[in-house]
Amino acid sequence: MAAEKDIMEKIISLAKRRGFVYQGSEIYGGLAGTWDYGPLGVSLKNNVKNIWWKQFVESRTDMFGLDAAILMNPKVWEASGHVGGFSDPLVECAKCHKRFRSDHVEGNNCPECSGVLGEARQFDMMFKTNIGATEDPDSISYLRPETAQGIFVNFKNVVDSFSPKLPFGIGQIGKAFRNEIAPRDFIFRVRELEQMEVEYFVRESDWETYFEAWRREIVHFTEVIGLPKNMVHEVEVEGDDRAHYSKRTIDFEFDFPFGQKELYGLAYRGDYDLTNHKLNYFDQEANERFVPHVIEPSLGVDRTILALLTSAYTEEKLGDDVRVYLKLKPSVAPIIVAVSPLLKNKPELVEKAQSVFADLKREFGRVMFDDNGNIGKRYRRQDEIGTPFCVTIDFDSLDDDTVTVRSRDTAEQERMSIDKLGEYIAEKIK
Ligand code: GAP
Repeated sequence: MAAEKDIMEKIISLAKRRGFVYQGSEIYGGLAGTWDYGPLGVSLKNNVKNIWWKQFVESRTDMFGLDAAILMNPKVWEASGHVGGFSDPLVECAKCHKRFRSDHVEGNNCPECSGVLGEARQFDMMFKTNIGATEDPDSISYLRPETAQGIFVNFKNVVDSFSPKLPFGIGQIGKAFRNEIAPRDFIFRVRELEQMEVEYFVRESDWETYFEAWRREIVHFTEVIGLPKNMVHEVEVEGDDRAHYSKRTIDFEFDFPFGQKELYGLAYRGDYDLTNHKLNYFDQEANERFVPHVIEPSLGVDRTILALLTSAYTEEKLGDDVRVYLKLKPSVAPIIVAVSPLLKNKPELVEKAQSVFADLKREFGRVMFDDNGNIGKRYRRQDEIGTPFCVTIDFDSLDDDTVTVRSRDTAEQERMSIDKLGEYIAEKIK
């Protein structure tokens, strides 16, 4: 356990130091359950979201994209069953008054002070707010606790605009908010999160086929972004443990340093949502009106980032020293290539390095110019942020237009002509 805690502390510290993830509102003491993604975190997140969007939406002919508003008419949340139904069991310690999720504590005593815990009561996890200038019951609204409802309420709009045939789906990436009783484990359980969700509409008789198809899509996605296969586990969620709307759920769990925990969910929501929103579908060919059933792959962005950071974190012993690197796939790495002049105080080297940098930057975007410290230190710094390639311009480069390309995982260097660099990198990030 100590070693696992240690790993989390090292990753949180690296994430802050190197600009992946900062504590939310840090200069004011923070705000529990909120985190800010720094420059490298945003890049990592965008790469993950772009891969998801391409795979789950853009590359398919049966999918539509959406970006719905976070604030919605409160009737949506009554119909969806979230008002009064989206809650976690809360217990309070009679002695220190700390509150816990009752399913996260064992026995009847407070994990902090051993005081007696009171009766469990349901705690509403939706963030309430007021819309407009008055604060009365009619002005109440909620920050959405899942992006899914934004999709359901636009079902009719998309059908009217595009007349899609079943099966088809709508995909969306966006923020969701949950007033978690106990946010914890860094970005694992947060109060402001991001989801990548698909609601896929099918005929009831087809649900098993498409449940299986989406199960495979999720597995494929985990492989494409580079999560180790043996760390992802599919777990069938039984009866009462399923969400109120689900007839079948598979949780995709991941071996985080603090245990095997939920990464993603795949649910068969039946006709629960469309029925509650009084929506249906008219099949022209069959001349039949009915309520489609729904398969929902729901993937958390923040948990993806945590799974990537924790599984990519590698320590390699080099004599008395330890080399730390993030073994991220080039397709998700925040920076693909760093360009350096061998020496900072040689203008001819700097000039040449800047020209190589400008060309690569134009082509790949995720390119950094790094001339801080000596070359060994630069490699270490780039290793720590997971940069797969470092290009160094040295004196030979001035004569023969070649550079060294050093690979993060092997620390090996190869010499290459500058005009081959673009092709080499493009091949690696495929
Ligand atoms: N629309 C279905 C839905 O929201 P969920 O299982 O409650 O289902 C889906 O959430 C995914 O969203 C989870 O598998 C997880 O990746 C992510 N998620 C949920 N709550 C989270 C939280 N408090 N912090 C970080 N991610 C969370």
